[in-house]
Amino acid sequence: MTTDPTTVDYPPGPSGLPIVGAVPASILGGLEFRERVAREYGDIVHWSGLGDHYYMVSDPEAIAHVLVHNNDNYVKGELFQRSLRPLTGNGILNSEEDEWRRNRHLIQPAFHPDRIDVYAELMCEEAERTIGAWTDGETRSIHDDMMELTLRIVSRALFGVNIDPYVDDIESAVNDFLPATSSLSHLLLPEGIPLPARRRMARARATLADVVDDIVRRKRADPGDADVISMLLAARDENENPLSDEQIRDEAITLLTAGHETTAVALTYTTYLLAQHPEIERRLVDELDRDRPTVDDVSNGSFVDRVVKESMRLYPPVPGVVREAKTPDRIGGYRIPAGATVFLSQWVTHRDGRWYDDPLAFRPDRWSDEVADELPQLAYFPFAAGPRRCVGDRFAMVEAKLLLATIYREYHLELASNRALDIVPTITSRPKEDVLMRVHERRAN
Ligand code: HEM
Repeated sequence: MTTDPTTVDYPPGPSGLPIVGAVPASILGGLEFRERVAREYGDIVHWSGLGDHYYMVSDPEAIAHVLVHNNDNYVKGELFQRSLRPLTGNGILNSEEDEWRRNRHLIQPAFHPDRIDVYAELMCEEAERTIGAWTDGETRSIHDDMMELTLRIVSRALFGVNIDPYVDDIESAVNDFLPATSSLSHLLLPEGIPLPARRRMARARATLADVVDDIVRRKRADPGDADVISMLLAARDENENPLSDEQIRDEAITLLTAGHETTAVALTYTTYLLAQHPEIERRLVDELDRDRPTVDDVSNGSFVDRVVKESMRLYPPVPGVVREAKTPDRIGGYRIPAGATVFLSQWVTHRDGRWYDDPLAFRPDRWSDEVADELPQLAYFPFAAGPRRCVGDRFAMVEAKLLLATIYREYHLELASNRALDIVPTITSRPKEDVLMRVHERRAN
């Protein structure tokens, strides 16, 4: 993250404290910091500290510049690697350049639309299993339910395994790891210094490594024909060499973790919003058939599609994306030095009144074709964009919609607590406290 010493014309931004500048405030301030600096300083904000320069870019065209048009100049960078590499190693979320290209190419077929049609049935089956364990009138921690459900789905769909024996270990590893990613001491102190956050991260990695090693052992003994692990085990490079055990472990941990928490967060906030908007829940239920939903029932433009899009606008499961400039660049008339860290915030841009009328209102109908067509393209980017766009975007959308349809066909969910939503923005925007919902069976009422 060393910055090009050339003098540059910095955009406005918070100055913060001597030496550390606004860096601690930017880490500790979470979503409020992002919202405040965008409001006070505009579309391109600068702050510095400890010799490094940071920019936050909120204008959709500038976002497209970083993620799409000039993406060759941007890597994930040191800050991102510090947050995630302790868990996902060099899997495709973290890797760069040729290694990323090769492994993305290997993994991509598992996300082909034809495969997702195949996964649709198991998605509904698992959702039916989840609600099959609910009792009319009981109170549930909906995020815990959604975490377990999406974990079971990603493991069955992508690895062809039943994850039940490992669920508790995986969830406790994720719960240990995510808060540690935004620990100030971990992000600022040199690597190698032992810290509680780093110990928690190492423990989480060891737990997940044990789980995926066990799955890989089973796949070596009995390979499947379409699951990702068997595909990675069978892959050979140009010299006929297989992937190393470490590479397979990294990719499997990446898919397991990136592939469930995000969708669970999206579902949790959607149920939270629906509980506060009975008229929207009513329309959603009216659209649902009594039969098990199919991919066609939840296609683009359906009401459930608009509901999920709008929920991910207000509560983007990934609240921000970070990049590092390889060489100097210009954004919004300002020079970005090589090595600078660039933040893009879905949270800020998705709530910007220039792109969204009454931006804090939950209005699924704003995703009608006419309105959506007028939006600048990257005023909405829950899955990022460009070559590093989420590989699981279609999987996640189909999954979220089928799960909602399956749940709302059978149940009405009522908020069981008046507590305001408290969001912890780590890599994802997970709720700090349980989101408690009283579940009411429709047939019983
Ligand atoms: C609502 C659910 C989801 C959201 C909002 C989401 C969001 C994102 C975002 C914003 C990125 C880009 C990160 C960056 O550029 O730093 C990303 C990347 C990625 N996501 Fe997702 N994701 C979701 C679901 C999934 C699912 C279901 C899977 C897999 C089953 C998945 C696997 C990945 C992977 C492997 C990457 C790295 C892609 C690459 O760099 O080539 N995600 N996701």
